[in-house]
Amino acid sequence: MRQKIVAGNWKMNKDLERGLELVSEVVNMVKDEVTSSVTVVLCPPFVHLTSVNKLIAGQSNIKLGAQNCHQKASGAYTGEVSAEMLKSVGTEYVILGHSERREYFQESNEQLAEKVNISLANGLLPIFCCGESLDLRQNGDFVGFVTNQLTESLFHLSAEDFGKIVIAYEPIWAIGTGLTATAQQAQDMHAAIRKHLAGKYGQAVADATPILYGGSAKPSNAVELFSCPDVDGGLIGGASLASRDFTDVVKAI
Ligand code: G3P
Repeated sequence: MRQKIVAGNWKMNKDLERGLELVSEVVNMVKDEVTSSVTVVLCPPFVHLTSVNKLIAGQSNIKLGAQNCHQKASGAYTGEVSAEMLKSVGTEYVILGHSERREYFQESNEQLAEKVNISLANGLLPIFCCGESLDLRQNGDFVGFVTNQLTESLFHLSAEDFGKIVIAYEPIWAIGTGLTATAQQAQDMHAAIRKHLAGKYGQAVADATPILYGGSAKPSNAVELFSCPDVDGGLIGGASLASRDFTDVVKAI
C-alpha cells in the first residue's frame, strides 16, 4: 500500500503569528479527522521551521518539511541553508526541484541530483518536483521532458535510496494559475512516471513510490484528483495557506 501524502508548500508566505495560527488549526483538525494512513507535511519558510516543529510535536502523521536545501554540506554560500541544518531543527522532508526554483534560480537536473544526494545523506526525504511548461504541453514531448527530469536527477540512486523518494508532478501551467490539470491529465502523467520508474527499478519499487500532484489543487477538485489510481496525494500551494482549505484537501484523500 503506497503512502498517501498531502504536503503544504507555503512558499514565501505567512508571518510567524499567522503561520503558527494556521498550524494550530491544522493540527487540531488533522488530529481529529485524519487517519494514520495519511501523512501531512507542512513546509513553511526556513525561519518558521523550529516554531512549527514545536507545534506538531507528538502528531505522528504530521511532519515538518523544508522548501529547499543547498547541495553542499557547508561553506561560503551566503544566504543558503544546508541539509544538515534542516535536519538539526527536526525537518524530515525537503522539496527539491520546484519549478519556481528551476526558473528563478536556474537549478539544473545535475545540480538537483547533488541536492538529492546530500538530502538523503542527512536523513531527509526528498519531495522531488517535475513538470512541463504550457508550450511543451501543447506542442512537444512533455512526457519525455518530465521523465528525463527524473532520469537525470534520480536514476543514479540505488533501489534502496530511491525508495526514500517522493515524486511531485507539478505542471508548470497549473501552478498558481487556477488552471488545474484534469484528473485524466494528471492520471496519464502519473501513470507514465510510474511506468518510467518501473523500467529502471522494477514494478515493486515503482508501485511503492508516492507520486503527488501539484498545481491549483484545492477542495473543489481534490476528491476527483485523489481518486485517480496513480495519484497518491498532493503538493499544495495556495490552498495550504488557509487551514480550512488545507484540511479539506487532506480529508479528500
Ligand atoms: O508546490 C506546490 C505549488 O507549486 C502549487 O501551487 O498554488 O497552484 O497550489 P498552487
